[in-house]
Order: sequence, then C-alpha cells, then structure tokens
Amino acid sequence: MFILNSSDTVPLYKQLYNQLRESILSGTLAAHARLPSVRDLAVELSTSRNTVEGAYQELYAEGYIYSRQRSGYFVSVLDQELAPLSLAREPRQTGPSPLPESRYDYDFHPARLDPKSFPLALWRTCYLDCLRESSRELPLYSDPQGEWGLRCNIRRYLERSRGVICEQNQIVICNGLQHSLDIVAHLLKGSHDTIAVENPGYFVPGRVFRNNDYSVVPVAVGPGGIDLEILKASGSTIAYVTPSHQLPMGYVMPIANRLKLIEWAESGGNMIIEDDYDSELRYHGKPIPSLQGLRPHGRIIYLGTFSKLLSPALRMSYLVLPRSLLAPYRAVFGDYFSTVSLLEQRTLAKFMELGHWERHVRRMRIIYKQKHDALLRSIERHFGSTATVVGQGAGLHVVLQLPDSNPGEAEIIRRAEAQGIHLLPFSATCATDEPVTTKLLLGFGGMSASELEEGIALLSRLCL
Ligand SMILES: Cc1ncc(COP(=O)(O)O)c(C=O)c1O
Repeated sequence: MFILNSSDTVPLYKQLYNQLRESILSGTLAAHARLPSVRDLAVELSTSRNTVEGAYQELYAEGYIYSRQRSGYFVSVLDQELAPLSLAREPRQTGPSPLPESRYDYDFHPARLDPKSFPLALWRTCYLDCLRESSRELPLYSDPQGEWGLRCNIRRYLERSRGVICEQNQIVICNGLQHSLDIVAHLLKGSHDTIAVENPGYFVPGRVFRNNDYSVVPVAVGPGGIDLEILKASGSTIAYVTPSHQLPMGYVMPIANRLKLIEWAESGGNMIIEDDYDSELRYHGKPIPSLQGLRPHGRIIYLGTFSKLLSPALRMSYLVLPRSLLAPYRAVFGDYFSTVSLLEQRTLAKFMELGHWERHVRRMRIIYKQKHDALLRSIERHFGSTATVVGQGAGLHVVLQLPDSNPGEAEIIRRAEAQGIHLLPFSATCATDEPVTTKLLLGFGGMSASELEEGIALLSRLCL
C-alpha cells in the first residue's frame, strides 16, 4: 500500500517512486510482478496519472522496472544481495509462529482449559446457521451494546443461575475483562479517583485502572473476603472484588460481610465491581449467589466472562451496569461501535437459546470436578501432610501452601521450568514483592488425571 502526502515538500511522483523502489529492493514486489496500470494506481491513490507516470518513468529509466508492449510495467530481476541497503530490507519472518505456552509437559497455569472441551461440532452448526441467517446484516454495523438476542439469553441465564436481576438494556457485551473494566473506568472517572483491589488478587484490574489514571490501593483479603476495615481506611471509593470465588485464594465472602460491603457502597456513595468470573464451577453444594442479586438496584457493577467455560480465545464477556450508569454509558459510549463480531455473538446467542450452553456448563462441571479430585489425590499422595491445600472445591486452580523448609518460589519455578513444568508464580498476584510463605498456584484445567499425577510427583521432588 502506498501513501502520498500532499503537504510533504517531496513531490508526489517522487514519494511514489521512493515507495515503489523500496518495495522492489526489499523483495515485497517480486521480480516479474506486474505493476498496476497507470490509470488504476492513479484512481487508487486519488492522484493524477502524471504522478504515477512520472514515478514509473523514473523507475524505468533506472532499470527497476521494464515494460512489455501493451502489457504494462513489470519488476526487473535484481540481485537482492547486491541491491543497495534499504530500510525495508529487514529479513522477512518466515516459518512457524512462536510456540504457544502449551509446549510444557505439565502446565499448571490457572487459566488453562481442558484442551478437548470446546463444543466444536455444535458451535460450527450454530455458526453456519447464523452465517446464513445474518447475510442481510453483514454489510451493517451491529448493535453497539451487543446483540439483543445474546443479551436476552445472558439475562435469563444470569437470573436463573447467579441470581442476578437486571434488564437486557443493562447488559453490555465486551471482549474480555480488560475491555469491561476500561468502560467502567471511563464511566466512573469524573466522580471517583481511587480504587481498592484485592491483595492477593488478579493483576488486570489494577493495571487497567492505573492506565486510566486512578490511584490503586491493594487491600488484604482473608477468608472473610476483602478486609472491610482496611477498605474503609483506604480512601477508595470503588472496590473490585471476586466474592464468590476469590482469585487466587478461593475464599467465598460470607453473607454478613457481603451485606457490610453493600452498606459501605450505599452509605458512602461508593461503587462495587463484582467479578463473577468462574462461579459456575463449584464442585460441592450449590453455586454461591451473586452479590448483585442482593441489591439489584444498588451500586454494584457485575462482570462475567465466557473465558472459563467456553474459550478465552473467543474474547467474549459482559458487564451489567446499575441503572444509574445507563445514561452516562450512553453519553460516553453511545456512538462507539460494538467490538465483538456479530457472527460470534449470534452464534453464542443461538448456542444458549438451544440449551447447549447450560448442558455444556453441566458437562464441564463434571470434567473439572474429576480433574480437581485427581489433583487433590495426587497432592495428598506426594506432598502428604507437609503442605496445605487452600481454596479447593471450586474453579480451575487451588493454592498449595508449602512447609517452611522449601527452596523458595523463584528457585522452585526455575527447577520446574527445567523439568517442563509451567507455574504461574503466586507472587504475580501479590501487590507486595514476595509473599511471606511459599505458595504454589496449581491450575488443573488443562491436564488429564495422569498428567496431573506425573506433574505433581515431579513437583513434590523439586520442592524439597
Ligand atoms: C479474576 C478473573 N476475572 C476474569 C477473568 C477473565 O478474563 P477475560 O474475560 O478477559 O478472559 C480472569 C481470567 O483469568 C480472571 O482470573
């Protein structure tokens, strides 16, 4: 693609000449490649034929191109080794793309899903149906807030399974947590400037709010959830929390503390961001109802994702705005376009509409419970009573608290790498440099029971 700049002091024909020459020297335009006709290129660049003709003439005169009668201009054969050095002559990246992280034999990263779990056949059927049905809408932009049908299905699902009470118009379809939080950060900007995030906790919220010029205050979490006294003293007016399954510790915030957190928000004009990222995955007893369901008209922004049960590669998530933020949302984002593909949204809507989603969730709960139980058995077998498991019974990971006599996190991770074991450092979830005791984050979603057994056996020997 060539770009001509009419405010540049270099004449237009010369700019085009330079760019064509560069493409020829770098091999982007291969020997014997036919150049566009003078007329076509002039139209494409919205310039005069003289400009193109002038550039071609000069290239022709210098031997970069040759002409064939009535066929146009072609790129000459040049010895690339002898060609003058050109800015664009960086060696072309060829060969396979870099290896994905799944090169590890034992991948304990907590974000890994079961590699065979994606409902490929059903997804393909739904996708092809949507492709056929949507042909009239493909030349258009889709609903900025997300497909209505998808929002209806999400609303029904959230009400039934998470106790979230909302209308379709409160739901915004986003492409992942970062996007959802970016929207929230913009919406709250005028009236808030400090957010409390959980410590230890997921690093993304702090990153997003810092990038939006907020002060970010890490607040300790314990078995009771975010520490309410520290929160109150922190000067924060927004709290990001994962109350149904704290990341990484797996704590469930008890109802008494949920009510106190809501009271903190309501009496102080504060805002709660509830990230309900994997609450479907609870292996004993019923899922924990959402915080939002306790105060549907309160000061709670509810976030959910399809990354844990379906695929993180699809990049589909949603946020449920409190009614008080709908007008600001429309004012700020009313003329933004949707960032999520129409076809992907429709496919998911159909997938949900036909009942596949809830069947898929049930199936995944069984699969992940088996892996979870296998992991706990392996830990018991190889670590015995020397280590303590924290946060079991839900989600896609547990935390393993090691006994005091261990080589330390950095050394364990180094040894693990050498043995083909991937570990996300627990310290990556901590706001302070190093956790006082050594803990391992053990995701189990991506491995089979036998891989978990082998991986834990190896790991137990590295932690001595
Ligand atoms: C706490 C938490 N929330 C949300 C997500 C999902 O993020 P996304 O929707 O961007 O894939 C994750 C992913 O690991 C997470 O750990």
